[in-house]
Amino acid sequence: MCGIVGYVGSKQAAPVLLKGLATLEYRGYDSAGIAIWHGGQLEMAKAAGKLQVLRDLTAEGSKLPGTMGIGHTRWATHGEPTDVNAHPHLSRSGRFAVVHNGIIENYQQLKTRLQRHGYNFVSQTDTEVIAQLVEYYYKGDMLDTMIQLMNQLEGSYSLGILCVDEPERFYAVRKDSPLVVGLGQGENLIASDVAALLAYTQEVYYLDDREIVVLAADKVEIYDSSRDLVHKEPQHIDWDVSAAEKGGYEHFMFKEIMEQPESVRKTLSPRLQDGQIVLDDFHIDRERLEQFRKIYIVACGSSYHVAAVGKYILEQTTRIPVEIDIASEFRYRGPIIGPDTLMIVISQSGETADTIAAMREGRALGAHVLAIVNVLGSTIAREADDVLYTWAGPEIAVATTKAYSTQLAVLYLLALRFGQLLGTLPEAELAAAYRALEQLPELLEQALQKREHIQHMASQLYNKHSIFFIGRNVDYAVAMEGSLKLKEISYIHSEAYAGGELKHGTISLIEPGTLVVTLATCDRLVEKIKSNAEEVKARGAYLLAVAVEGDERLAKVADAVFYVPKTEALLQPSLTVIPLQLFAYYVASQKGCSIDQPKNLAKSVTVE
Ligand code: AGP
Repeated sequence: MCGIVGYVGSKQAAPVLLKGLATLEYRGYDSAGIAIWHGGQLEMAKAAGKLQVLRDLTAEGSKLPGTMGIGHTRWATHGEPTDVNAHPHLSRSGRFAVVHNGIIENYQQLKTRLQRHGYNFVSQTDTEVIAQLVEYYYKGDMLDTMIQLMNQLEGSYSLGILCVDEPERFYAVRKDSPLVVGLGQGENLIASDVAALLAYTQEVYYLDDREIVVLAADKVEIYDSSRDLVHKEPQHIDWDVSAAEKGGYEHFMFKEIMEQPESVRKTLSPRLQDGQIVLDDFHIDRERLEQFRKIYIVACGSSYHVAAVGKYILEQTTRIPVEIDIASEFRYRGPIIGPDTLMIVISQSGETADTIAAMREGRALGAHVLAIVNVLGSTIAREADDVLYTWAGPEIAVATTKAYSTQLAVLYLLALRFGQLLGTLPEAELAAAYRALEQLPELLEQALQKREHIQHMASQLYNKHSIFFIGRNVDYAVAMEGSLKLKEISYIHSEAYAGGELKHGTISLIEPGTLVVTLATCDRLVEKIKSNAEEVKARGAYLLAVAVEGDERLAKVADAVFYVPKTEALLQPSLTVIPLQLFAYYVASQKGCSIDQPKNLAKSVTVE
């Protein structure tokens, strides 16, 4: 997904833009470019390929002097990743430069209309239409032009726009695509996410849809589509720059795997107070909770896998029926949802287009929306009725790990608190789970200490071509996550299967040497999953098991076992997932894959 940066201040803009784009690289891209206002002209450099190509082209920015500019990393949607299709895009006279994240759904008809007025196009992108449209509407008043532009555009966009007639100000606007304003001292910035701003400021504005921001070195003004000034309170971001840097680790993914104990501790500890679960972030009391006839958890990707765990644990503690759904499916299924539904949306980025759309559909149908989000001030966080933040800190690697683990931690808090409010969770069970929550960060540390064995097994098994992850109950939900982790960073095909389902077809795929990872940490079902493991073993599978320390039942049938610390059944998924994250990481490392920026993937999918 694309990345946008913009700068105005006293520094040379090009190096600032290049540095900002570097912090957005993890979002995934295939070309990059910058445009600078200088000497009454817009000077631009852009190229297909990684950021280093642009650095070389501009001699680290020194060839483009000037103190105001915009930059972009492009994840191709309309048109291949070429120099011409890279952003920024200029209007035909060269008076305007535009960078864009999102998709303009009506760009074709706008393009046709502009062509009728004599505009020619050099690229295949929807963004070039925006640049030409700005020129088409511009009569000297940029604010008026921005409003007219917004009235024409359909789809999602966050835009940075330079106008050659405006040497001291540049413009930005967003709709359904994130954009953050950084408030510096004598300098101001825009970026697609906070990570690109932290080197300059921790004070930001989160823009709402269709708010136009005008940035000068000493002033930031925000207008609505009626040209009225909008007052916003700056938000303080307590992440520091190092949080968005590797800190000596080879990959962000490994750093974030190792940060999980601390991230889970930060997420849990403010909410565990003297034996009580304190969720002061939201307003669902017993009376409101008793009105819910159904809980609907909706998310994408790994966040959906958290939802899959959530179904098991929330139904267990509340006895309220829980439905889970993939956001892109939920929207088109005609969901049976209303004021008696609690809709939980889970999203690390808070900007996933499918999840945003599902949330809006659920709200429109009357559901009460509770969001579990990692990014402060993100779209989902701002539009939900209630928000529970996962205090994981910035997660840079495309493959989520610490955000996933902190989402699980928040779900445990919800499940226990709801069970307590409804009286459906026995006090003794609640007390035991509470103690286990307090110990969880330490147990995560212990699970991470076993990584040498996992690394060794990865070095033996990284050449497998198709891998199965099987489990029952919550282990099946964790198997889904283990399978996705492996696929997205090592590019090895894998599938997660409910252990009892194999014999209904898939077992026909098991051949001698097929790797089957068997999760056997759901204590009451170990004998059952052991039988499934024996079924595949009998057909020649290579069996890798995950079991709790002290449980030797799978060792009798498996070729190797990853042991994890035992905890309360409700919380066990948090520990079971650790060897799967590490296994995926080490396999991908062994294969020499691009771990933090896997091919074709983006950190936050802000397009449908
Ligand atoms: C997880 O490793 C993937 N990067 C992806 O599945 C991700 O979980 C999904 O895109 C949802 O993102 P979100 O949590 O930011 O909504």
